Amino acid sequence: MILNTNLSNLTVITLAAGKGTRMRSALPKVFHPIAGLPMVGHVLNTAATLNPKQKIIVVSPDMAAYHDMLTQYGADIAVQPHALGTANAVQAALEIAPKDHGHNDITLILYGDTPLITATTLENLLNLKADLAILAFEAANPQGYGRIIADQHHHVSRIIEQKDTSAMEATIHLCNSGVIAIRSNLLPELLTHISNQNAANEYYLTDIVAAASKEGYTCLYTSCEEEELIGINDRVQLAQAEKIYQKRKKQEVMLEGVTLIDPEHIYLSYDTKLAADVTIYPHVYFDTGVIVETGTVIHSFSHLKGVTIGKSCQIGPFARLRPNTQIEEDVKIGNFVEVKKSTIRKGSKINHLSYIGDSLLEKNVNIGAGTITCNYDGFEKHKTYIGENVFIGSNSALVAPLHIGKDVIIGAGSTITRDVDEDALALSRNEQTSIVGGAKRFRARNYKKPS
Ligand code: UD1
Ligand code: MG
Repeated sequence: MILNTNLSNLTVITLAAGKGTRMRSALPKVFHPIAGLPMVGHVLNTAATLNPKQKIIVVSPDMAAYHDMLTQYGADIAVQPHALGTANAVQAALEIAPKDHGHNDITLILYGDTPLITATTLENLLNLKADLAILAFEAANPQGYGRIIADQHHHVSRIIEQKDTSAMEATIHLCNSGVIAIRSNLLPELLTHISNQNAANEYYLTDIVAAASKEGYTCLYTSCEEEELIGINDRVQLAQAEKIYQKRKKQEVMLEGVTLIDPEHIYLSYDTKLAADVTIYPHVYFDTGVIVETGTVIHSFSHLKGVTIGKSCQIGPFARLRPNTQIEEDVKIGNFVEVKKSTIRKGSKINHLSYIGDSLLEKNVNIGAGTITCNYDGFEKHKTYIGENVFIGSNSALVAPLHIGKDVIIGAGSTITRDVDEDALALSRNEQTSIVGGAKRFRARNYKKPS
């Protein structure tokens, strides 16, 4: 079988109809995220890089609420009425797959709970010269896995499930990953050879190997690192997979020229995009949808989600950047600053203790410490516009909707409720009074002799 990405001779079936009871969750197992993407999304995205003509996902009837999410990844949905085993799940997929196949058509079967598998490994599998190709691995602890019975030329005669192994077979460390590729025109016929006469009374897809081998078809295996094949059944394995994914993603960005000062203590999402010469200090959390351009430094304890940051910015420490925020180049966002759904243009500075929401800040705006855009009146959100070169004095409350023209100065401590025209100085404070000698008299009145 040879993968031909140009001719698109590949169908991918992803099995995800298992119960996933060990997750102890209201959320179906395959929707638990790794680096911000549901694990099934990882599998389907990896499958997509092989340019398949069709992607089918097999789900259980109780996953109807999640169909939209799955079609988002370009998958067609097949429902397996009862979880009677992996072979039965493939049967359910075939009901919505095309029936006529060319000799070179390939069907690749993946599991929805094995998200770390890489495209390179799948390509190696698909390029084996075989009718049926099996992805194997040497397990540190083979307990629970199907064992592969093969000769030294990698020809596989059968796979034995854990529950059906003899004491001798249980000592085999070469295990089945569950991923197989098969010539599409052989699949329907070979599935009919599979029975549920085994310890679990399930229709095992793995029995297809013995059936194919008996008919004289070539069954070969190739192997990859166990780490890629971690199957997630509970939250402990979910955390292990997250750790492996994080390590991989961070290596990737470092090799692309990003400095991670302490990679172990930085969290990236699957879609985090960091340009070369970005520097990230320890304890920065990148939630989904973050893009950072070259020369920008993100200091410790910052939390970012759904934000694009231009060149040469300084962010944090302790900055919180929330979705739908665009930050242009040379911007400074300092400590304890929260920015939401706002655009901050080139050269502007929000250095300390501020909240900027639903706002547009033009170039070179300076926001003094403690400034708040009061964007919410308890019912609706309102917008704030701040023109070029505006200087907002510290501890100002800007009550939206508000338009502040360019070159305005707002005096510190002001509550601004009306629009301000360009070049104006706007102030709103009580006038200061000073009582001559007042402090001295106050102290004298309150002074008590030590007892
Ligand atoms: C399976 C393999 C085993 C392999 C192991 C690797 C079989 C019979 N065994 O065992 O050889 O070593 O994976 O992790 O295939 N599913 C359905 N419908 C079903 C049953 C399962 O869609 O009726 C899906 C599950 O959601 C899961 C996948 O198939 O994504 C594997 O099922 P699971 O029950 O986890 O198989 P294992 O016992 O782990
Ligand atoms: Mg499993």
